[in-house]
Amino acid sequence: MDTLEALATRRSVRKFSDRPVEPEKLQAVLEAVRMAPSWANMQCWRLVVVQDPEVRAAISELSFVESYFSPRGYKMNPAMKALAEAPVVIVACAVPEQSGEMAGQAYYLTDMGIAAENLMLAAHAVGLGSVFVGVFDEEKLGDLLDIPPGVRIVGLFPLGYPLGEAKAGPPRKPLDEIVFYEKWKG
Ligand SMILES: Cc1cc2nc3c(=O)[nH]c(=O)nc-3n(C[C@H](O)[C@H](O)[C@H](O)COP(=O)(O)O)c2cc1C
Repeated sequence: MDTLEALATRRSVRKFSDRPVEPEKLQAVLEAVRMAPSWANMQCWRLVVVQDPEVRAAISELSFVESYFSPRGYKMNPAMKALAEAPVVIVACAVPEQSGEMAGQAYYLTDMGIAAENLMLAAHAVGLGSVFVGVFDEEKLGDLLDIPPGVRIVGLFPLGYPLGEAKAGPPRKPLDEIVFYEKWKG
């Protein structure tokens, strides 16, 4: 699969089979994160790879944040079950001081976003699925996984073989709404 095809066909996967992930495929996904570009090449990312089913179940429970989801009418994070069902969960953390800050922009989040896309595209390229889970109780998750103070948990990524056929993804805005040539046009 070439890059453009991977970009066009990747979808968030929230239903997983119990088929184990081969170690070499997991390695390929981790390697893709390792190769991501980052602020001054400081590579602020740290990944906790969780395969223990009990710990995955506990992580799943922590992906529902009442104050975020309830006002929107959700009874669970749409990816909650995925975190328990996928055989692997990658907890993507950042060491913010190992990245930059300019004009109020914290670049560790940019670094992590790029790493996340590398992770998801590599997963897709080797036949696996994943989804960025950005809503979780960071404090409780940090306690559960012994994350040191000051290290931020940025995303959770269930990883495994997708169950069922991939559906069409949610629509995207047309290019003429998001791209301006030469100057911003309102
Ligand atoms: C920063 C970020 C946080 C996200 N958090 C969640 C989440 O907590 N739960 C979930 O089910 N999906 C989450 N998503 C997935 C998006 O809903 C999904 O990427 C978007 O709807 C587009 O669908 P696609 O990935 O299939 O193209 C998140 C995506 C991003 C980039």
